[in-house]
Amino acid sequence: MRGHSLWPPQATEISKLIDDTFPLLERSVGVGVKVEKPLAPDLWWAQVDPGQLENALINLAVNARDAMPDGGRIAIKAENFRLKRRTRKQKVNLVPGEYVRISVQDNGSGMAEEVLARAFEPFFTTKAFGDGSGLGLSTVYGFAEQSGGSVSIDTQLGRGTTVNLFLPQAESIKTIVSSALPIETEGEKESILLVEDNADVRAFAATVLDNLNYTVIEAENGDDALVMFEKMPIDLLFSDVLLPGSLNGKALARTILARDPTLPVVLASGNWDLANSGGTSDVPEEAIVLQKPYTATQLSAIIQKLFDEQKSGRVGS
Ligand SMILES: Nc1ncnc2c1ncn2[C@@H]1O[C@H](COP(=O)(O)OP(=O)(O)O)[C@@H](O)[C@H]1O
Ligand SMILES: [Mg+2]
Repeated sequence: MRGHSLWPPQATEISKLIDDTFPLLERSVGVGVKVEKPLAPDLWWAQVDPGQLENALINLAVNARDAMPDGGRIAIKAENFRLKRRTRKQKVNLVPGEYVRISVQDNGSGMAEEVLARAFEPFFTTKAFGDGSGLGLSTVYGFAEQSGGSVSIDTQLGRGTTVNLFLPQAESIKTIVSSALPIETEGEKESILLVEDNADVRAFAATVLDNLNYTVIEAENGDDALVMFEKMPIDLLFSDVLLPGSLNGKALARTILARDPTLPVVLASGNWDLANSGGTSDVPEEAIVLQKPYTATQLSAIIQKLFDEQKSGRVGS
């Protein structure tokens, strides 16, 4: 399931996707690093998988942050780019055509030649064990190539790095489905009980749900979650499967569904999580399983879909 995507490549409004992803990007790089986004006006749409693009931007921003341990500045630029003909000097593997170029620029450490030469290799990392997986740039590369675009790196040791993503322009904007990220919802705020023990993942999910205008009630284990469920009105349960304490996500979902059988339930799980908590047999039938790691777009899409279905009176999915 890794790499499986909820959204196929589609005409995507790049300026909107960058605007929508911006709060997550800022949150991913933390304080001490300023993020700017000079976007060209009249930026074209690109034909891409929006969830993968969002992941790529987060990967690139985190790399930029890691290259600036004492803080610094990241600029996410986006411009329309037309390649008229192939030239010998051309550094990037692109066929002539129209592209949206997104550049993530930092003023950090830069890369030595031997690092640059291997930067796109899967599992290549210069970071300490546990700090880097070496999968960031190789994933970005795979995504760009599969989209019919490409990626290039400009870097100077001690000066900084710019990673350029070239994404093919969307041919037609008739069948537009915009990014599933923040769509302002009118009216009453639904409340979501978010249960996740990892503080970073919880903050990420809370930001996404908060951006969608839901009220987010956070709990770090199943026992606390149950207490909150009893105290507050809850419209949806979104829980991790592996949790510390006496209730894992599946048991929490069963307990809550026994009290409110129509409550929408989403369980976030990797295959590893399921294997380590007794498998899939005791996952409640009503629950939707969201594969980990999930992107903001995937999370937004699944939550909105469930609330939409509920509003239109359909049961299940
Ligand atoms: N913005 C950057 N500035 C300097 N070096 C970078 C930058 N981005 C990537 N690198 C180098 O490329 C290597 C591979 O990056 P990546 O594939 O994202 O793996 P990881 O971040 O897990 O190490 C990094 O370990 C680092 O040496
Ligand atoms: Mg990385």
